[in-house]
Amino acid sequence: MNTVIKVKRAPLCFELNMRYTLNFRCKQIVRYSQKLDTGQIQPDISNSSKNTEKFVHSVLCNILKRKPNTNLTPKKIVIDFSSPNIAKPFHAGHLRSTIIGNFIANIHKYYKDYVFKINYLGDWGTQFGLLQYGLKAQNVNMNELQKPIKQLYDIYVNMNKLAETDENVQNEARKYFSDIEQGKISLENWKKIRNVTVHELENVYQRLGITFDAFHWESDYNGIAIRDLMDYLQKHNIISNDETGKKIATINNKKITFLKSDNSTLYLTRDVAALLDRHKKYDFDKMLYIVDNSQADHFSSVFEIVKQFNKKCTEGCEHIKFGRIKGMSTRKGNAVFLNDILDEAKQKMYEKQMQSKNTRQSAMNEETCDILGTTAVVINDLKQRRQRDYEFNWDRALQSEGDSGIKLQYLHCRLRSLEKNCGVSIPEFCSPALLTEDIIVDVVNELSKFENVLQRSFEAYEACILVSYLFRLAKCINKMFKEMKVKNVDQSTAEQRLLVFHAARIVVKTSLEILGVRPLDEM
Ligand code: ARG
Repeated sequence: MNTVIKVKRAPLCFELNMRYTLNFRCKQIVRYSQKLDTGQIQPDISNSSKNTEKFVHSVLCNILKRKPNTNLTPKKIVIDFSSPNIAKPFHAGHLRSTIIGNFIANIHKYYKDYVFKINYLGDWGTQFGLLQYGLKAQNVNMNELQKPIKQLYDIYVNMNKLAETDENVQNEARKYFSDIEQGKISLENWKKIRNVTVHELENVYQRLGITFDAFHWESDYNGIAIRDLMDYLQKHNIISNDETGKKIATINNKKITFLKSDNSTLYLTRDVAALLDRHKKYDFDKMLYIVDNSQADHFSSVFEIVKQFNKKCTEGCEHIKFGRIKGMSTRKGNAVFLNDILDEAKQKMYEKQMQSKNTRQSAMNEETCDILGTTAVVINDLKQRRQRDYEFNWDRALQSEGDSGIKLQYLHCRLRSLEKNCGVSIPEFCSPALLTEDIIVDVVNELSKFENVLQRSFEAYEACILVSYLFRLAKCINKMFKEMKVKNVDQSTAEQRLLVFHAARIVVKTSLEILGVRPLDEM
């Protein structure tokens, strides 16, 4: 809306009237603004000053009420995300899954859905026979591991090296795995590994402000655990033996291995079992798997197989795919663990902030640097289209000028500081007649798009829609900072302007929180 509008101060009865008719008007005007947004209608110029006042009033009140724009019935959403493998690197793909999955969980929660977040850890497969074998051969005491993720990884790497030259090790590992699968060896030691891994992972997730409702394990669906399911599938001809003794499933006339000839399970077998289990446990409306593009075939196989005998279970299933991040490395070399990436971000942020003249030294502590570092990584990721591969660049992610997370945090701090230091308080009523300057109407107009943007971001599970909007909004708010004073103007005007800044801060804060970032109050 770029119409130039000049208005006189509205009479008091206008304000009161507006409060009573607000509910009705809000809906009408938000719809009106959405139509304006999409170009379906042109602003009504003849009566524009009055309309603009109503518009400003309703947008601000709507934001201050903080009610999401939805009347859908809440759904049960299960989200499988992050899901790294133990004793293997937490690679950039897991980082993306973590960031995108958290965003999807948050946005569903915003719309009042019941969300259940699962971290499905990879701890099973022949390669873990190798690890188990290594732990046994090296007499490792699980209770004494200080940094289990790193130490298990080292053992795993060593055993792999050994297996390259020593066929015996490879065979032993395979046999070992087959034995634990079939229950011939106790899983006690394995449970300890799982516990220490979860403990360490939880510390890292805490840095990102992410929690899970459950940690599930591939090993929960081991050969013994899924025996009944195998019998069922065999009885109903979903799987059959081939000449080598493998169990085979058929999808669109294509045969794929479902169980190895020694009855060891595969990633596919375990995911089929896990899906059925989740459906039984959570009776979900949606089951979302946040996993990179490369596993598209895997998930379509999982869904296709289950569909052959339990169609209902697959109805809400969706593989939410994403592209690769290239070039994300740390000083230590190629990024291996999430902690290293976050440490790198924090350290770089610290150096940068120390050089910046805008930094308030008193606000520069470890926690702030950590939050800024993670914000940079998260926003840099979420500003990309989900399915696209992208090149990671530390300078671009951490810059405070361009479209970065740092800039958004800086904006939030600036808005917060204004609220604290401008000398007036946020008024209880909105007087739109005092908010007629072009830049204010522009900001309000941007704010009016928030719910609509969020809805689109939600429907496509594309955080970048929300992030681009935030950058546009930030430009507009910064312009208002330049053009509109809150200090040294009369009190009512100051208060009303503060109200606009405050509404803007609510939108910025809510958006950052949905994106999975903790808004800072000072930096
Ligand atoms: N651990 C797997 C990997 O790193 C991802 C697991 C995703 N979830 C699932 N249910 N398959 O590739």
